[in-house]
Amino acid sequence: MTVEAAARATAAPAPLDVDRIAAEFPILAREVGGKPLTYLDSAATAQKPRAVLDALHSALAEHNANVHRGVYPLAQESTALFEGARRTVAEWIGAAYEEVVFTKNVTEAINLVAYSWGRANVGPGDRVLITEMEHHSNIVPWQLLARERGAELRYVPVTADGRLDLDALDRELAQSPALVGVVHISNTLGTINDVETIVARAHRMGARVLVDGAQAAPHLPIDVKAIDADFYAFTGHKAYGPTGIGVLFAKRELLEEMPPFLAGGDMISRVDLQESTWNQVPWKFEAGTTPFAEAIALAAALDWMGGIGMDAIAAHEADVVSYAVDRLGEVPGLRIFGPTAQPRGTGVSFALEGVHPHDVAEILGRDGVCIRAGHHCTQPLMRRLGVPATSRASFAVHNKRADVDRLVDGLAEVRRIFGLS
Ligand code: ALA
Repeated sequence: MTVEAAARATAAPAPLDVDRIAAEFPILAREVGGKPLTYLDSAATAQKPRAVLDALHSALAEHNANVHRGVYPLAQESTALFEGARRTVAEWIGAAYEEVVFTKNVTEAINLVAYSWGRANVGPGDRVLITEMEHHSNIVPWQLLARERGAELRYVPVTADGRLDLDALDRELAQSPALVGVVHISNTLGTINDVETIVARAHRMGARVLVDGAQAAPHLPIDVKAIDADFYAFTGHKAYGPTGIGVLFAKRELLEEMPPFLAGGDMISRVDLQESTWNQVPWKFEAGTTPFAEAIALAAALDWMGGIGMDAIAAHEADVVSYAVDRLGEVPGLRIFGPTAQPRGTGVSFALEGVHPHDVAEILGRDGVCIRAGHHCTQPLMRRLGVPATSRASFAVHNKRADVDRLVDGLAEVRRIFGLS
């Protein structure tokens, strides 16, 4: 790295013009029940900037033709846009073009790995190691695999401060699991796992590693080569892109040896009456008409984030989240789950003593403040935390400190309604 590049890398990014960024999201101009919308549920799904909406509209209104099939110019145009989107994704995460498989979402990506790689590589008595902070999408596919193959599903525990117990990880790795599945950023706790270190330790013990990057992709630069993950999955709709499109990165040599997951059109090379041969990777794993318009719009979302700069996004969100943690800490009877110090993710789960999380979310919703309440698809983690549910505010690049103030004002109203103040 040159001296200039090092200086650029360490220089704090310039503050963002957040009002200008928020103005790019048409939905944020909406009122709900006569109140301005304060959207604090981006961990569930992100709102969409105009650049993404325009890209989706343009893909369907101006370039629509099925990909990989037609020889007429319009079909070649849509195919070029779709495969260009793959190139954008590959560059975004530091992967080779052939290592990017489009899926429906992270859930489908993990099911693909469990079904295809898992059934070929996990046998009776083998271990699959995941963590107590995984989303159901990184638990249930492994349960099905373990049951079918007679394998054992093991868990790395979560500590009282919401982090992975790395000593327990090492003890489990000593038992040589076939695969380690770990979330990059917990959707419930906001914990950022040191996936580089976990992958390195797992590889030393011969395990493959799958990283669930659903909550990381909208907030951090992702470099799958630096992480050295064997599999890395993220979804479009949490990264300002549309629903129905996700990404599975897998190392090329793994994709080459893995059998197909879904079968049908486009994933074949030749079909005979009794047998077929497969298309090259990554298309071997993309059966049927892929959501090509959504893939094109996902690429637009990545370009949009790139235009702002991931370092600037991360710095801005760190400021808003730190402010949120501080202000929430002032609310009497409020407990935050997960790390309170930076670096942490943008989801902040909390419980307000004496009020069910759903009541918190419902009352805030009346004022246009949107947060999620529930188990966040992490029921084993809820049991570990000893609660049935939490409230969760999650932040995006368009949020600012004033949004946190509205949340905290709303919580004061919740306490007043419940006779707590
Ligand atoms: N996994 C998403 C969330 O955390 C839906 O809300």
